[in-house]
Amino acid sequence: MSLRIGDTAPDFTVETTEGTIDFHEWSGDHWVVLYSHPADFTPVCTTELGQTAKLKQEFDKRNVKPIALSVDPVDDHKKWVSDINDTQNTTVNFPIIGDKDRKVAELYDMIHPNADATATVRSVFIIDPNKKIRATLTYPASTGRNFGEILRVIDSLQLTDHHKVATPVDWVEGQDCVILPSISNEDAEKQFPKGWKELRPYLRMTPQPDK
Ligand code: BEZ
Repeated sequence: MSLRIGDTAPDFTVETTEGTIDFHEWSGDHWVVLYSHPADFTPVCTTELGQTAKLKQEFDKRNVKPIALSVDPVDDHKKWVSDINDTQNTTVNFPIIGDKDRKVAELYDMIHPNADATATVRSVFIIDPNKKIRATLTYPASTGRNFGEILRVIDSLQLTDHHKVATPVDWVEGQDCVILPSISNEDAEKQFPKGWKELRPYLRMTPQPDK
């Protein structure tokens, strides 16, 4: 059965471009973005891995460790990394899992046989420091992912872990949020001193609480 939001992210021990890692030990008290690639030496993946390296400061700011996976061996990954660095003008600074026996790909249901019998699709798992899966995304091989969206989801998760709000359509850091419908106006007065605009009793917009 596929993994769902709220499930514990399965642990595994695997070879990566940065040596053997035990996933839970490696992630420690960080958030993790675990994401899969159809294959090494492919154009879209090359751009995605380059972008991940360039976003290091953004991941660090959010206490997030990225880790990529493809079902090719680590020796191939290492050769590919030099192409990524050259073509994307960056230095890959995170591990890439060499999942040649597809152990992790199968554990995380990253192979969708009706799309491709052997290659992984573009899966993303956002995992919190308690090892819980907090969000998943699945894209086809032909569509590169939007890493701004991945960061945006992490911002929303980290905000809503600490404040009784949710984030509306297309929200980005700094914009107004919605007060959870489960919060009474009486409680909202204590929790949202900046006030709110009530469009409907269930739709109360408030400035982002931690800004
Ligand atoms: C790519 O990463 O460029 C790619 C991989 C498989 C199919 C299409 C594109």
